[in-house]
Amino acid sequence: MNLTIHVWRQKSREAKGGFVAYKAENISPDASFLEMLDVVNESLIEKGEESIHFEHDCREGICGSCGMMINGVAHGSRGKAMATCQLHMRHFKEGDEVWVEPWRARAFPIIKDLIVDRSGLDTIIQAGGFISVNTGSAPEANMIPIPKPVQELSMDAAACIQCGACVAQCPNGAAQLFTSAKVSHLGLLPQGQPERYERVVRMVEVMEEMFGSCTMFGECEAVCPKAISIDFIARMNRDFIAAKFKSQKEISVGV
Ligand code: FES
Repeated sequence: MNLTIHVWRQKSREAKGGFVAYKAENISPDASFLEMLDVVNESLIEKGEESIHFEHDCREGICGSCGMMINGVAHGSRGKAMATCQLHMRHFKEGDEVWVEPWRARAFPIIKDLIVDRSGLDTIIQAGGFISVNTGSAPEANMIPIPKPVQELSMDAAACIQCGACVAQCPNGAAQLFTSAKVSHLGLLPQGQPERYERVVRMVEVMEEMFGSCTMFGECEAVCPKAISIDFIARMNRDFIAAKFKSQKEISVGV
């Protein structure tokens, strides 16, 4: 396949960026989108030009590092639950023009070309802290029976790979889907009950400081490579409201 890719090039956070057109030639339809970028980079290096900088690691949809906007869509597909590394060139047509940009969100400043700083998501996780109960030695896993539907829901939330597609696709740059997944995978399990309500308040407060507000566009769910449901946002909101009522009650009785 032969395509033209228009890639956002930007030398640094402060530098002015812009699209540069490159020919992607003799690309196998079975190549992944990242492998296509590798081929383009090899030709740039051969010509003595600087290669396109993009983040990647596992190349199998696990690490969450390969996010980029492809034709205006985070990871380049909607409703297909795929990270960029899982998107194959057979999804494109011969002669296509493809526009490739970094995540676009105020909370994700560009570092270089297609690489952005996603550490705002780590800050939300850090705000959640850790579970400070003394657990002693590792208990036998089957000692705490957990109903299967609860286990499965928790695992659905834990599937989040922290790629930031939800934030990048949201017109408000909101991180509700990400935060709700992180709040829920612990908050659903018995092991996560200590500090459940303090945790949701801390994480939501940090999220609101750094990211936009959710107005339920639903774009996050459409592009999430792990198909995480926006139902988790409702769940997080319920926990947050419950936590606020709980603390008001504690204040009124002087606890
Ligand atoms: S490179 Fe790890 S999810 Fe794509």
